[in-house]
Amino acid sequence: MTRIFSGVKPTGHLTLGNYLGAVRRWVEVDQHRADGLFSVVDLHALTVEHDPARVRRLSRQAATLLLAAGLDPALCTVFVQSHVDEHTRLSYLLECTATDGELRRMIQYKEKSVRALASGESVRFSLLSYPVLMAADILAYRTDEVPVGEDQTQHVELTRDLAVRFNQRYGHTFSVPKATQPPVAARVMDLQDPASKMGKSHDATAGIVYLLDDADVVRKKIMRAVTDSGQEVAYDPETKPGVANLLEILAGCTAQEPAALAEAYTSYGELKRATAEAVIEVLRPVRERHAVLAADPGEVDAVLKDGAERARGMARPVVDAAYRAAGLLPAG
Ligand code: AMP
Ligand code: TRP
Repeated sequence: MTRIFSGVKPTGHLTLGNYLGAVRRWVEVDQHRADGLFSVVDLHALTVEHDPARVRRLSRQAATLLLAAGLDPALCTVFVQSHVDEHTRLSYLLECTATDGELRRMIQYKEKSVRALASGESVRFSLLSYPVLMAADILAYRTDEVPVGEDQTQHVELTRDLAVRFNQRYGHTFSVPKATQPPVAARVMDLQDPASKMGKSHDATAGIVYLLDDADVVRKKIMRAVTDSGQEVAYDPETKPGVANLLEILAGCTAQEPAALAEAYTSYGELKRATAEAVIEVLRPVRERHAVLAADPGEVDAVLKDGAERARGMARPVVDAAYRAAGLLPAG
């Protein structure tokens, strides 16, 4: 059976980008057709300045939202990364496989390190090594497919390179995974700045729709989205990035094609109203189930405990095999 792994970082509240680019497919497709592991990758949230209490809160919220969105523990494994030691155990071996040069070429590292320095923060070493931990997340489970948004494809490419290199040096140990992307909305853009990704850790929030925003807030944010000059509704990401983004969002919510949808609308206002209502309808059940689950944290904890046990059982033999292959003496 195909093995799938993916994760979400608890660095902020989950966004519509997370949902359309990743979570929705995990729920609707991936968990039904494959052996899926979906993780709140909390260690990754420590690569930038963080408040411990906030990370703890966001980790619980992210796990609750994954279940509210429809991940079913009877079909897949939902767990918190730091509960399974194999990730960091394997990460070290992969640090001994990756090169300094290839990590410094990662686009996210370049962008985030520049941003940190500009705001007077130091750049944590883990920001550089972060894609290696991500590779460990994936390779520890002999993963075949990694369903992610477009921004993660470079990291999955690195993961493939590391798997191939390790296998060549030490004998076949890891599967070589591939990234998969949704047909639309693989890169949802900020509503106020259609040139940049809708990111959950951005400071300016007017252009970001959060999964837990209520209907009025969603409507307001979408109605105020930056559009482009001209009046014609057309799907052209190059010359009309704001309108194209709305069309992608609407298409993602209604399982249609952005270019075909463009023909159905004659004004930006009409397109915005339709997009807002489609987003509200998609998020409504998620918010409702979140409220129910959040009232019973014991149930979420039980799912995470069980998930971590299952994940550990899968990762342990793979990481042990990698340790032996690399020349480390078995503990006996
Ligand atoms: P992150 O929020 O960086 O932990 O991302 C979790 C998942 O959501 C990853 O698969 C990302 O590629 C995806 N994702 C995050 N932001 C967006 C976005 N704006 N559009 C599409 N996918 C996204
Ligand atoms: N780096 C991913 C992101 O920022 C999150 C992540 C960590 C991940 N480990 C992963 C995604 C493994 C897929 C598989 O979105």
